[in-house]
Amino acid sequence: MRIIVTGGAGFIGSHIADAYLAAGHDVLVLDSLWEHGGGRRQNVPERASFVHMDIRDANITRIFQEFKPEVVCHHAAQHSVAIGSRDPVLDAQVNVLGLLNVLENSVKSGVRKVLFASSGATYGNPERLPIDERTAQMPLSPYGITKMVAEHYLRFYRNERGLDFTALRYGNVYGPRQDPNGEAGVIAIFVGKFLAKQGVRIDWDGDQTRDYTYVKDVARANLLALAKGSGTCYCIGTGKRTSVNDIYKALVEIAGFEVPIAHAEKRPGDCRDAQFDNALARRELAWTPETPLLEGLRETYAYFEKRLPPE
Ligand SMILES: NC(=O)c1ccc[n+]([C@@H]2O[C@H](COP(=O)([O-])OP(=O)(O)OC[C@H]3O[C@@H](n4cnc5c(N)ncnc54)[C@H](O)[C@@H]3O)[C@@H](O)[C@H]2O)c1
Repeated sequence: MRIIVTGGAGFIGSHIADAYLAAGHDVLVLDSLWEHGGGRRQNVPERASFVHMDIRDANITRIFQEFKPEVVCHHAAQHSVAIGSRDPVLDAQVNVLGLLNVLENSVKSGVRKVLFASSGATYGNPERLPIDERTAQMPLSPYGITKMVAEHYLRFYRNERGLDFTALRYGNVYGPRQDPNGEAGVIAIFVGKFLAKQGVRIDWDGDQTRDYTYVKDVARANLLALAKGSGTCYCIGTGKRTSVNDIYKALVEIAGFEVPIAHAEKRPGDCRDAQFDNALARRELAWTPETPLLEGLRETYAYFEKRLPPE
């Protein structure tokens, strides 16, 4: 199958590109290598074609017409809650108008299906856990709002233009290639601090929990969704809650040493817990999160350790 992966130079998108190539598909990565994103040219697999272009650019028409993809896996985004909150206009330009440019060109070039990276941020601070597909979406940030709006556009394009979609709502994704300078990746940030033998900062009391999903499991969901999950949104998470303190303890076990902890105030807007019910994805996509947290943490640690500059 011919597949365009937008954002395929980024953390999650590059693992998806790897998974598609391993399954025998032809992959074209379209990515602007946005300076505030996690995209790196070296993340793009060698066997994939690469086009350095913004999803808002009118020239993507030429790329779509020439490559003739059957599927577009849309992972390019303004991915930061903090940047989106400071600059909601930029957030909407990339996450809404950029998406519309991708959808319009998908229709014009005969794409069958779009896979979309949605987010747990569409839920805001839900009253009950675990979150599932019936939980009300009440996003609290411009980023969460544009991800939710995107899902509505996907439904419109399916109903009115015959373009199929699957949207995958991720919790906290972690693993190799995650940008340690990013805001979302407490695991990437902590691993970086351990390897530099520097202290970590734990906000609140550290007992706040998140649902951490290994990036290769997320990539497999994107592989399964090529053929399944028509017109549906799925929660993609492990169903397990892990606290920041637990992450710290697991990294002490992996590294074999402790680093100092500085405690800080709760960050405004931070929610206490997050946990996803993945029953629908298990049932309809045949997806299961296969990587236990400790194993994923070991692989992540080993990846960043290998990339340390020589002493
Ligand atoms: N990391 C997570 O935990 C998480 C959770 C939920 C949803 N998501 C979503 O998954 C997707 C991938 O996130 P990620 O964590 O891999 O981030 P990332 O920053 O590593 O990847 C995003 C990629 O999009 C590219 N990009 C940004 N703006 C672009 C534009 N205008 N045109 C073309 N390319 C552009 C960046 O250069 C980058 O390579 C995003 O849509 C994000 O919102 C991520």
